[in-house]
Amino acid sequence: MTTFAARLRRATMVEHREAETRSFIARLLAGSVPPDGFAALTAQYLVIYRELESAAEHMRTDPVAGPFADPALTRVPALEDDLSHLCGPDWQRSVQPLGATLRYARRLREHCHTSPAHFIAHHYVRYLGDLSGGLLVGRSVAETYRLGRDGVNFYEFDRIADPKAYKMTYRERLTALPLSEEDLAVLVAEAQLAFRLNAAVFQELGAAYPDDFAPAA
Ligand code: HEM
Repeated sequence: MTTFAARLRRATMVEHREAETRSFIARLLAGSVPPDGFAALTAQYLVIYRELESAAEHMRTDPVAGPFADPALTRVPALEDDLSHLCGPDWQRSVQPLGATLRYARRLREHCHTSPAHFIAHHYVRYLGDLSGGLLVGRSVAETYRLGRDGVNFYEFDRIADPKAYKMTYRERLTALPLSEEDLAVLVAEAQLAFRLNAAVFQELGAAYPDDFAPAA
């Protein structure tokens, strides 16, 4: 029998492959994004995670979604630290959300404070990704821009000692969700939408920061 976690992974596999191979994140890994493009990505994330983590605050006491809303995952303070390092003391002014970021944030605001299925879908797409390819992206970016740890705190989960074990427990929690088939289908569709919302942000960033950066040898 296929578990719900496996079903969710399979339902988003095509979108994931696209993100791995063609997105702005793939370019980050290839080292072809200029430094201000990386700062702009960090600023988009701040807008998105503020919404997601504000929803997590609401969901913390929800019997279904509450166990997912783990404070150890919280990314907003790390993103603020990163931006202050990347953009200086005036970093707040560098937070200029793109159209796609505003649309993503609006979706989170309108659905994730009240619907456990929507919240879990968005939570899964971001945090399980952050605990997977995200760790690799952090190490690669630190090297490309010679940042050390400064500027890439977002990619480090200090309070999660073993990401692999964490993801296993997370998948078990997904599979044990006490939701109807109808709600599970809503969750799957919302996760697919969450990938598309991310892809739209990456696409807009890609257009704003074209492929013309060669890191120092
Ligand atoms: C170059 C970019 C990326 C690489 C190299 C990458 C790599 C990976 C790898 C290796 C895994 C499997 C980890 C495991 O099974 O434990 C994974 C899982 C995942 N990634 Fe990515 N990823 C990338 C981009 C993204 C993006 C942009 C998102 C979402 C916005 C994302 C979301 C996810 C999710 C949700 C999972 C968990 C799948 C599951 O087990 O259910 N990834 N990623």
